Amino acid sequence: MTATPQFIYDQVPYEGYPITASHPDRIIPVARLLGMQPAPATNCRVLELGCGDGANILPMAAVLNGSQFVGIDLAHNPIVKATGMARALGLGNIRFEQMNVMDLDSGCGEFDYILAHGLYSWVPAAVREKIMSVCQSLLSRNGIAYISYNVYPGCHVRKMMSGMMRYHTEGAREPQEQIAKARELLSFLVSGKPDSPALTDELKQYRERRDYSILHDDLSESNDPVYFHEFAAHAGEHGLQFLAEADFYEMQPYNLPAETREKLTAFAGGDPVRFEQYLDFLKNRRFRKTLLCRKEVSINRTPASDPIREMYITSVARAVSSNPDIRSTKEEEFRGTKGGALRTGHPVLKAAVVQLGKSWPEPISFDQLMDAIAEYRDDFSEESTGTFCEMLLRCFMAGMVELHALPANFSTVVSDRPMAFDYARLQARNGDPAVCNLRHTTIEMDAASLHLLALLDGTRDVAAIHKHLLEIGLTAGNGRAIELREVQENIKKVAQSALQMA
Ligand SMILES: C[S@@+](CC[C@H](N)C(=O)[O-])C[C@H]1O[C@@H](n2cnc3c(N)ncnc32)[C@H](O)[C@@H]1O
Repeated sequence: MTATPQFIYDQVPYEGYPITASHPDRIIPVARLLGMQPAPATNCRVLELGCGDGANILPMAAVLNGSQFVGIDLAHNPIVKATGMARALGLGNIRFEQMNVMDLDSGCGEFDYILAHGLYSWVPAAVREKIMSVCQSLLSRNGIAYISYNVYPGCHVRKMMSGMMRYHTEGAREPQEQIAKARELLSFLVSGKPDSPALTDELKQYRERRDYSILHDDLSESNDPVYFHEFAAHAGEHGLQFLAEADFYEMQPYNLPAETREKLTAFAGGDPVRFEQYLDFLKNRRFRKTLLCRKEVSINRTPASDPIREMYITSVARAVSSNPDIRSTKEEEFRGTKGGALRTGHPVLKAAVVQLGKSWPEPISFDQLMDAIAEYRDDFSEESTGTFCEMLLRCFMAGMVELHALPANFSTVVSDRPMAFDYARLQARNGDPAVCNLRHTTIEMDAASLHLLALLDGTRDVAAIHKHLLEIGLTAGNGRAIELREVQENIKKVAQSALQMA
């Protein structure tokens, strides 16, 4: 189906980016801990609904050669861009189609993963209905759907802003005029120094919000948050059930006082949906990334730690102390990026977190980790290994470690003729200010680094790259000629950002 030229996403594109939690590499560990046997990331079929310009599935397809990818979107221009990028990369395992979700039928076959990021809340009720029925009819038996959406209660404040902006922009026809009027209202509200902390906090967030987000998220006719229990009931009507939040740590009530945790458990009465709903109330949550699976799948709601033995592990946690004492049982504190903290005196766990810090950002297998910390373990029994798995599981649940289905496909050691991720190189050549790395996360770069990245195609050594940069007159920050040492440092940064192919 062809969208009208007036389709708002053709007029003003929605800037896509890789959604880390939607990558099978991250979904599979969550599903395995809960007892599922999902399709392997290296041999699966993935469908993305409302894929925009393919910023999420293109980099997946570029590394998972044995898997097949299909992206559909109603907008014409983003699909043209996505198709052009797939062609430029020579990818034969991905296809894009300009298509309305409403027109999808079983002709396209079954999928092991169906992704819909930023679609469910942004479309009319009939399309939301269709998203669920597509998952019902096209998910394979052990298939998993990833759906993100806006939720109440957190979204009430954003909805309030949206209501005010829609009132003020009434009559404005063109997107740019609507955006300008919306910004005018925001300035007006800020100038009034509102007495309401909720409004003041929300206004602060608009300082960072881009024009396309104001247009598509605030001024859109369809942007309907739901309560989580409504979403779960909707999934249930289509033969689907709540599996987990894709960001697993979001499901854990760790930071709550014991008394609140007890009440939460009592309110939930053993029902995982009610538990999540009350957690949303406590967190005033506004956005969810939910995994669904078929109702017939049996889910072990108490995560098992054993599957971790077959996974790969990373950790962003770092010791607060510059010289943590690993050997004794002295308590040390480790901090993650999302406010998470771990205090432990357990030598094996301390050694593991320190080791993962050294290996960052490369995922290491469970066995490699065990070997690396062997000297801190005085007991290699099955029981102590089991206890270690349990500790890693707790760390994962607290957001202190990440679990992966796949080993590293990048190297942090600069090779003789460095070759950067071809998808990121194409982004750099296209002039994107941020690129996707081989961890499926976004890396922002300055113009000089992007230029360097585009050169790392495996044909030049560092000296040749330096020579090339001098020839084209690329200078260091203060205008002087760039030195070999600086080029080496910058390539090292590229490698350490998980952008260099293994
Ligand atoms: C908020 S954007 C999100 C885009 C992308 N998934 C992302 O997160 O960057 C919503 C996307 O859904 C697409 N869309 C809206 N209605 C659609 C429909 N009925 N069928 C297919 N795509 C649709 C829009 O064109 C747009 O690309």
